[in-house]
Amino acid sequence: MILLLILLVTGAFLYVFPGPTVFFVAAVLIHAGAGCLAVAWFGRGMARRWQASTPSGRAGWLLLSSGAAVGMVLIYTGTTRPYQSLLLIHIVLTVSGLTLLASRAVMHVHASRMRVLGRGAAAAALVVLLAAGATAIRQNWRGFVISNPELPPRSMLEEGGGAGGPFFPSSSRTSTGGRVPVDFFTESAQCGRCHEDAYAQWSSSAHHFSSFNNQWYRKSIEYMQDVVGVEPSKWCGGCHDPALLFTGMMDRPIREVIDEPEAHAGLGCVMCHSIAVHDSMGQGGYTIEYPPLYELATSDNALVQALHDFVVHLNPEAHRRAFLKPAMRDQAG
Ligand code: HEC
Ligand code: HEC
Ligand code: HEC
Repeated sequence: MILLLILLVTGAFLYVFPGPTVFFVAAVLIHAGAGCLAVAWFGRGMARRWQASTPSGRAGWLLLSSGAAVGMVLIYTGTTRPYQSLLLIHIVLTVSGLTLLASRAVMHVHASRMRVLGRGAAAAALVVLLAAGATAIRQNWRGFVISNPELPPRSMLEEGGGAGGPFFPSSSRTSTGGRVPVDFFTESAQCGRCHEDAYAQWSSSAHHFSSFNNQWYRKSIEYMQDVVGVEPSKWCGGCHDPALLFTGMMDRPIREVIDEPEAHAGLGCVMCHSIAVHDSMGQGGYTIEYPPLYELATSDNALVQALHDFVVHLNPEAHRRAFLKPAMRDQAG
């Protein structure tokens, strides 16, 4: 019973709040683990339980077991797009099986047929209502939209984070208002582990060569810094050098950091894929969100990496939400 409760609670959590959080990772692992245990535990006594059950009880166990079987398949296949309908089948089967068994358990044994039907209908209505509520909360994260201020800033000093901001005169911001850890923008190859195509395309693209791995650009900035100093060149950094700008390395003359990997990272994958909100005023007016748990995704530790990859495989929704905010698809251009 406890196992079923754990599965119900973690399953509901996974459906309602998929996001890059520790709770989500824990829920994915617990749900899969408890699922395996439940199959082993209930599988043993199933023949006896079947014998002792009424027809409605049998229907409940049948739904639940087929849902569990689909769940086992999902552990193997994962729930990426091609397997989403299988995931839906898993949810519908297990939830209806549980509803049937639970409503039977609270029903009086000698209740009249009408009563049983009435309560069954009430239980089904409740589940549908809960599912609708859960779906509404699940969809509710789509708040990242492009919106522009009513009036443009009166001067450059009011753009982005303002003259006091760490990235001024670029209009770009971070969701924390502060800097971003050094290795955030330089780990594109880690994404390439799974997204081989995207990585291959990007590797030879202008986005890869936007920064000081581009000699025309390097010369332009060196010249600019010689003439007007370092700060104005940070404006260019908002579009060309995220790995330097957001880590604070662009506060020094570029000649001092030209040999660092950050100077050659270009516009890495997360430059675009961690843009959470922005306006379309130009000048690099966007906000970078450093996704929680990012260290997990790019860890060099084999165990941590395997854990991350397993969780992304089992349930990529949190990963999707971290790296593809709706505006990128819905409001492109
Ligand atoms: C462990 C393998 C793995 C790694 C590493 C990985 N991804 Fe993914 N990514 C996936 C899977 C699996 C999906 C879901 C695909 C699906 O549902 O069909 C996904 C989905 C996405 C999506 C959404 C695509 C869509 O169709 O909704 C984006 C964007 C993305 N990843 C970007 C990145 C970026 C950026 C990195 C590097 C920081 C990265 N990924 C690292 C496995 C990975
Ligand atoms: C608003 C974003 C943005 C800002 C700010 C910006 N650039 Fe660019 N830059 C671009 C884009 C986009 C391209 C590619 C244009 C193309 O290929 O048609 C580019 C191209 C270039 C190129 C040509 C690179 C090549 O290989 O062809 C140089 C050089 C360059 N920029 C220098 C600068 C300098 C210097 C600054 C600051 C004074 C700056 N950029 C500011 C977006 C920007
Ligand atoms: C210049 C910005 C930019 C960069 C850099 C970038 N992407 Fe994307 N990427 C996008 C946009 C925008 C989309 C959404 C396209 C759409 O579906 O309309 C996208 C889509 C995707 C998708 C979804 C699948 C698809 O083809 O629609 C994946 C996966 C992905 N990118 C991975 C990566 C990886 C891995 C890297 C680095 C090697 C990377 N991207 C670099 C902007 C970028």
